[in-house]
Amino acid sequence: MKQLIAANWKMNGMPDWAEKVGELARAEVSGAAELLICPPAPLLSLLCEAASDSAVTIGAQDCSADEAGAHTGETDAALIAALGARYVILGHSERRAGGESDALVKAKAERAIACGLRPIVCVGESLDVREAGEANAVVVDQLLSSIPETGDYDIAYEPIWAIGTGRVAEVADIAEMHAAIRAAVKPGPRILYGGSVKPANAQEILATSEVGGALVGGASLQMDSFAAIALHAIR
Ligand code: 13P
Repeated sequence: MKQLIAANWKMNGMPDWAEKVGELARAEVSGAAELLICPPAPLLSLLCEAASDSAVTIGAQDCSADEAGAHTGETDAALIAALGARYVILGHSERRAGGESDALVKAKAERAIACGLRPIVCVGESLDVREAGEANAVVVDQLLSSIPETGDYDIAYEPIWAIGTGRVAEVADIAEMHAAIRAAVKPGPRILYGGSVKPANAQEILATSEVGGALVGGASLQMDSFAAIALHAIR
């Protein structure tokens, strides 16, 4: 599979950001890159329309574990899929910080797969855990409790202390963590790295063993920097 270069816009964007899909589709990127934009849920429809004739894929940032019904404020995975989106980010640390458990992430992933979406299951350790030397064990535990029993999915390893901080994990640490994750899940899922990925560090990160792509926050809000990251996709 190609490396997945995914934009997590988080809670950013307005209706006119649909134009960014065209900007990205016209940008020069590596043929090895699969391009994904995950906007806030209210923009999914506009972005899916804007991306319909392009190589850009659209995804959501979360979905419900439940089927359609009385769940105020939740978003049904079946609706996300019906709009034309193909992926959903699940278990991002910014959601886990609000109390989302591994079991809920797993239930959401299974519901997403049942609806035809490919989940991107996020995992990552805090700075305390890393400094205690327990990062690999904690992340693998979290992962094994969060992934679906069956179906296709991807993984994003995002050390919490590297998100939005400008601090990037050392390449050796990324390689070690991705190897530990690969050993736990076997072939199948791509393992993306996320946490302060920028055009200046993307080449080194995307060339690292077992890195199957990047999940990009801040640097994905401008298409020139997001495309500059995607230019470094290699496999
Ligand atoms: P930054 O790229 O802004 O560090 O965010 C990473 C992230 O959380 C992507 O999901």
